[in-house]
Amino acid sequence: MLLARSNYRVSTMVLSGAVVGALSCAANAASAAETLAVQRGAYLVTISGCNDCHTPKVFSAGGTTLDTGRLLSGHPATEQLPPAPGIAGSGNWGIVANQHLTAWAGPWGVSYAANLTPDASGLANWTPETFMQAMRSGKHLGNGRPILPPMPWFNYATMSDDDLRAVFAYLKSLPPVRNAVPTPLPPAPRTAARR
Ligand code: HEC
Repeated sequence: MLLARSNYRVSTMVLSGAVVGALSCAANAASAAETLAVQRGAYLVTISGCNDCHTPKVFSAGGTTLDTGRLLSGHPATEQLPPAPGIAGSGNWGIVANQHLTAWAGPWGVSYAANLTPDASGLANWTPETFMQAMRSGKHLGNGRPILPPMPWFNYATMSDDDLRAVFAYLKSLPPVRNAVPTPLPPAPRTAARR
């Protein structure tokens, strides 16, 4: 009887060991899949040009490079810009941008590239679904106002679900940067009157 009991204990231990092993295998597989998604997301973000507009730049004699300390943190809110020169309407020169290419003035008003890092001032509260809906619908947060130029969401709308999820996984893996990007400005009345 004693022997039978201890055998039972041993087999329970073996069984629970197997369960723990299977669970940790599954966890490892999940984190390996996550790592692959983040790597693919980094690749897609690079070739899709997201940094061109969403990362502030460093200017030096050697040329313009990405400010890697503020990767994808959007238009730097601390940098005050003078009012945009009035431009609008067909037949006129169309668009001006700041030197970081993070602020853009055109017939739509002034738009500022969003903070894509996982800070509360960025995408911290976004789910993969919010992101996919925003990229597919061209609506702020997937259901709000239209996303303004020059954000080329209509190109990214054609990415597969897996690719969009990978881009989002990469963005979520970035170091969070606190930067509350200003809300867009409507076209100046003077500009609109010149149409
Ligand atoms: C040519 C410039 C440009 C490029 C390239 C660009 N963006 Fe944007 N993006 C912007 C601007 C400007 C805004 C702000 C638009 C607004 O306020 O309506 C924006 C807004 C966003 C938003 C916020 C959408 C929302 O719901 O308000 C997300 C998310 C985003 N971009 C992701 C990306 C990703 C991911 C890439 C690359 C795959 C990318 N952007 C490439 C300029 C750009």
